[in-house]
Amino acid sequence: MSKQFKVAVVGATGAVGEVMLSILAERKFPVGELVALASERSAGGKVKFGNREVVVQDLATFDPTGIDIALFSAGGSISKEYAPKFAAAGAVVIDNSSAFRYDDDIPLVVSEVNPEAARHRPRGIIANPNCSTMQLMVALAPIYRKAGIERINIATYQSVSGTGRKALEELGRQTAALLNFQAVEPAVYPVQIAFNVIPHGGDFTDNGYTTEEMKLVWETRKILGDEAIRVNATVVRVPVFYGHSEAVNIETRDKLSAVDARALLETAPGVEVVDDPVGGGYPTPVTHASGSDPVYVGRIRDDLSHPHGLNLWVVSDNIRKGAALNAVQIAELVAGED
Ligand code: A2P
Repeated sequence: MSKQFKVAVVGATGAVGEVMLSILAERKFPVGELVALASERSAGGKVKFGNREVVVQDLATFDPTGIDIALFSAGGSISKEYAPKFAAAGAVVIDNSSAFRYDDDIPLVVSEVNPEAARHRPRGIIANPNCSTMQLMVALAPIYRKAGIERINIATYQSVSGTGRKALEELGRQTAALLNFQAVEPAVYPVQIAFNVIPHGGDFTDNGYTTEEMKLVWETRKILGDEAIRVNATVVRVPVFYGHSEAVNIETRDKLSAVDARALLETAPGVEVVDDPVGGGYPTPVTHASGSDPVYVGRIRDDLSHPHGLNLWVVSDNIRKGAALNAVQIAELVAGED
């Protein structure tokens, strides 16, 4: 019988944790035993794993001895405190937070782009990239390898699920209230998100950019292993439940036409090209990405303002490929090691 793994999901009651559980079951990951962990508040409750239910345990009092693989998605401070404890107990930790992403001795892995990096994990921790970088890398890595990329200019249209379950509830609540002509009080976001767009993701940093914008800069360089690549990002939160969209303009080192880029992306792993110049002939969060695995690319156009410029529209489910799916794909890489 092939090896079975004792798998822990930390943050099992959250927006990402819930999807981690369903993807583990869907992809028939060789789970011998599944441990669902969350805060004391959820302990004793149940979460769905395939066609059965698993009782949630309190992370604070759980003994990680015997866990083979732990998928963490309970926020940075929980990862900082508990991931090293799980790793010390022998687990391989796959962490969805930004707690360790920028440490030199922590690999940052997109399964289609740099899977080999997952093997070198001196601290027993592998980091899962931020959702907006994840889908960008799946779409751009084939172009980077073929023609080189000197500069990326990106504006994102990020769904609220990236902020967690409370943000999904806030968008639903505000939408219903406004349709009934009632006033709304923002709680999760600094201003109303329903029927609005907010040019702010994460926290503001000293240089005027937000942490979500700087993640695109740092993580792109680390994943592609290219410190010279220039990234200019504007992150915008939009009233969409699931699926991030990105308007991407790149300057390649060698000329790559839109026709050649389209052909390249049509055979790229994890990518699906949807690019017909007719109404609906492009990917959107609702029509394509939400609930599905690929990174969709459309609106592939030569940049009329730059001889080596190319435009792309990149859409993916931020909770699936942007978080839970890639974490499970990393777990599959680990499980497949000799
Ligand atoms: P809980 O539901 O018990 O609060 P989201 O990003 O969707 O808000 O989900 C966050 C996840 O992280 C949830 O599963 C949440 O569990 C978990 N979490 C938050 N705080 C803690 C904590 N102190 N210990 C363990 N899990 C936590």
